[in-house]
Amino acid sequence: MTTKGDGGARADPPVRSRRRSGQSALRRDADLWAKFLKAWTLGSLRVQPPLPPGPLGPRSISRFGDHNFFRRRWQRFGPIFKYIFSRRLTIGVGGFQRARQLFREHGEALSPATVNISAFVPHGHLRSMTSPHHEHYRSQFNLALHGDVITAWDATLRAIALDELTRLADATARGTPPKELMVPTLDRITLRWLLLLSYGLRPDDGTFRSLEAAHMKMGPSGFVYPLGPPQHEAFAELRSLVTQIAASIRTAGRSDAGDSALRRLPTASLEPEVDPTIVGNLIFMVEMGRYDLRGLLRWILKYLSDHPAVVTELRRLRDAGGGLQDYARACVQETLRLDQASGLLRNVVKDFTFEGYRFPAGSLVRVLTWESHRDATSFQNPDEYRPDRFVQPAHDPDNYAPFGIGEHRCIAAQMVVRLSTLFVEVLINNFTWRVVGDGPRFYGKFHWEPSLDFAIELHPRAAADLPVGEALPS
Ligand code: HEM
Repeated sequence: MTTKGDGGARADPPVRSRRRSGQSALRRDADLWAKFLKAWTLGSLRVQPPLPPGPLGPRSISRFGDHNFFRRRWQRFGPIFKYIFSRRLTIGVGGFQRARQLFREHGEALSPATVNISAFVPHGHLRSMTSPHHEHYRSQFNLALHGDVITAWDATLRAIALDELTRLADATARGTPPKELMVPTLDRITLRWLLLLSYGLRPDDGTFRSLEAAHMKMGPSGFVYPLGPPQHEAFAELRSLVTQIAASIRTAGRSDAGDSALRRLPTASLEPEVDPTIVGNLIFMVEMGRYDLRGLLRWILKYLSDHPAVVTELRRLRDAGGGLQDYARACVQETLRLDQASGLLRNVVKDFTFEGYRFPAGSLVRVLTWESHRDATSFQNPDEYRPDRFVQPAHDPDNYAPFGIGEHRCIAAQMVVRLSTLFVEVLINNFTWRVVGDGPRFYGKFHWEPSLDFAIELHPRAAADLPVGEALPS
């Protein structure tokens, strides 16, 4: 029963009009069914495969403060799950075998998500290139970054590391807290290494010093992104310096310049003028690579410091006169399994279905590198640091892929492992150390990093202990 002004409740309709409205509802339903059947038979109505499992509420946002976020999701929802990253639907994919299959089957629907340097470099970053530019430039850099450039410079690379670590030890002995000096020291080592290998100039060369100064301007303490006016200015200086070095290689051949990535580029990419996409990528490889490498050296120091038994084994091998290099390499590979390598990001540019789930255009894919390396089905006691796992250098690429998978795999993988191994050798051959500060890991600009409080106090080994042929700089 309703009364006037009852706030909007409707009165019951009379019986005749009720019958009429019942009939029209039936007719409406019949029309809908007819349309549905027609659509079904015409195949225009398809049931969409489901999105991967996982909530999309506020608690599904991946947080940089929680390094176990993806691991928990994987355990709870399986190796393919969804979450929100940077306000976008993102799909986590665990396991390298599965990820490789995903890339193989749907490569054309996935494009790498990386820094945008197209304002600096005509065809952009090698990492973001697609066919045919990618094949063209990647094959040139594959030749240029060949591991034997390192062999040619082995003594100079070691001298750079030894010199910088000795300065750190000296400054610490004079009272400067190591925490203030550690990151800049490692940064100088990695920048100098990469400049030497890229351009073949020694640290005492004037052009080398100008290149170093311009890189310090581009990123005084880490890779600066987004790139602003100071980076444009520094990049212009670097481009001009690199173009000059290329010109001197092309014309007379520099008598003071040795083997280098630039020198190893096919002649066609230096003539008649050096290709600006090559120059730009080389500059950004040094600029970004030095931070990746610095990050890895910090993790290496952290894991060695946390595992004195491993350091004892390295020293034993050193004193035994054989096996140090292999074990040092194993330490590097085990560090890369546990840290520094984080994840591979791809933009989904076209809808597709994989393992029964829908990957919609506009979403992101993240291959879970860190988590895949800590999967107990791939490695026993996966959270433990055990370099012994890598004493045999061969590894199963379905379990271990710190340098990525597929066509965009890291072009400097071999170089990174060799340089880091050399660093461990120089450290063990010339120093002892103790930890003087530490704290929890944190998410830096692109990676998890050891605490900025992590610091070691280095001490030169007594001269009498040094191996024959190796002496500390005066
Ligand atoms: C700790 C050291 C490093 C690690 C863990 C690392 C890891 C990776 C990974 C995982 C990829 C694949 C990215 C993807 O598929 O989206 C990659 C690509 C790449 N890396 Fe590295 N990297 C390191 C150091 C370096 C250095 C020092 C350089 C250069 C000197 C470098 C140059 C490149 C380039 C150019 C690519 C793109 C290759 C392509 O798209 O064809 N990386 N790196």
